[in-house]
Amino acid sequence: MEQLAILGGSPTHIAPWPKWPVHDETEEKLLLEVLHSGNWWRHSYGQGVELVEDDATSRSTVAQFQRQFALAHDCKYGIAAANGTVTMEIALRAAGILPGDEVIVPAYTYVATASAPLMVGAIPIFVDIDPDTYNMDVRRVEQAITSRTRAIIPVHFGGQPCQMDELNTVAQKHNLIVLEDAAHAHGSIYKSKKCGSLGHIASFSFQLSKNMTAGEGGVITTNNEAYIETIETLVWAGRKPRQPWYRHFVLASNARMTEFQGAILLAQLTRLEAQSQKRSANAAILHELLEKIEGIQPLTRLLSTTRNSYHIFLFRFHPEAFAGISKQRFVAALQAEGISGAFAGYINPLYANPMFTEKQFFSGAWPVDSWQHGREINYANFIERCPVSERACTSEAVWIPQSMLLAEKEDMLDIANAIRKIQANARKLK
Ligand SMILES: Cc1ncc(COP(=O)(O)O)c(C=O)c1O
Repeated sequence: MEQLAILGGSPTHIAPWPKWPVHDETEEKLLLEVLHSGNWWRHSYGQGVELVEDDATSRSTVAQFQRQFALAHDCKYGIAAANGTVTMEIALRAAGILPGDEVIVPAYTYVATASAPLMVGAIPIFVDIDPDTYNMDVRRVEQAITSRTRAIIPVHFGGQPCQMDELNTVAQKHNLIVLEDAAHAHGSIYKSKKCGSLGHIASFSFQLSKNMTAGEGGVITTNNEAYIETIETLVWAGRKPRQPWYRHFVLASNARMTEFQGAILLAQLTRLEAQSQKRSANAAILHELLEKIEGIQPLTRLLSTTRNSYHIFLFRFHPEAFAGISKQRFVAALQAEGISGAFAGYINPLYANPMFTEKQFFSGAWPVDSWQHGREINYANFIERCPVSERACTSEAVWIPQSMLLAEKEDMLDIANAIRKIQANARKLK
């Protein structure tokens, strides 16, 4: 029997995987234009806060990008910012979320989904994920609603759209804001509509791992005109359109995106559609290959998903079919087989981080009173309430990153072959 690479044998996959980020002369040209223009920040083009309605004619790369990105995601408005964490915070503020409000978030997600509510003084309430999709479990959302609940933040995890019709129905019934955390969902489509246009407001990230990137960056998309002026003001350090530059109306940080980021993202956007199609096609092949392997269960593809743009291809690992080895050992063996991007994902559900269990919230950041008058939340108690998230972290979830899905069909076969090889030799890994 062939020796496992982790034990000194030859790896299953030897060729390099596609490089990420992808870039070419499109980025180079646009970046050099910004460089030579000297207009490195957006203010170079205006007398102050630029208005979204002027984006169509603006020479600013940020203005052009945010407009094009919004249109490509079925939205009238897009406002870019420094990263996808500040966009979450600004979106919550613009939607009127106040200190002491409760915001329902999934337990299996990146920290920004729950830190953003805290940064505006609101209280994140964690709900478990659906074991079949790893998206927020809609039934649990309704159970978590109290008289203080003001918003829901569904995360289209890995790129698969959440069950938005069901979530929007619950939200309407209880008069809640829906903020889509679409950090994984550039180009994902739910029932023929793009993610980012499915709730009241949405946030995307362009951090390096994301399906399109400028190293850092974020954008808020919405079809609600009522939010726009507040979002602009919050991005531009409290300034207002058509007002003197040094007049600041509300407390806000500077969250502007640079013109260099705008240039790179304009170029990246030209590839999004073709890359999304390629990832989806390869993911379909991988799904079929992996579902045939005992103990490997790709997440369910929902009928409502017109397209998953696959920021992450996720599958569930069942140790019983691999001689009981741990997920961590399995992933290490997979990496050694040349499936180098395979990853075990989050080490614990979000609420188990000291930030939450020890309430390390730097109390000066918002009115602590709202907490004292509110109900006491003990985040350690969420362990019993979120068994699916616990299991995903400790023993089940394996991630294959988007960049590997830009490889060829034969490479998908290598992923399946590597897993079969580990399965056949699993006893030796004990
Ligand atoms: C689900 C989710 N939300 C929000 C973010 C925040 O994005 P950024 O890294 O741009 O701040 C990320 C980034 O990893 C994410 O994965």
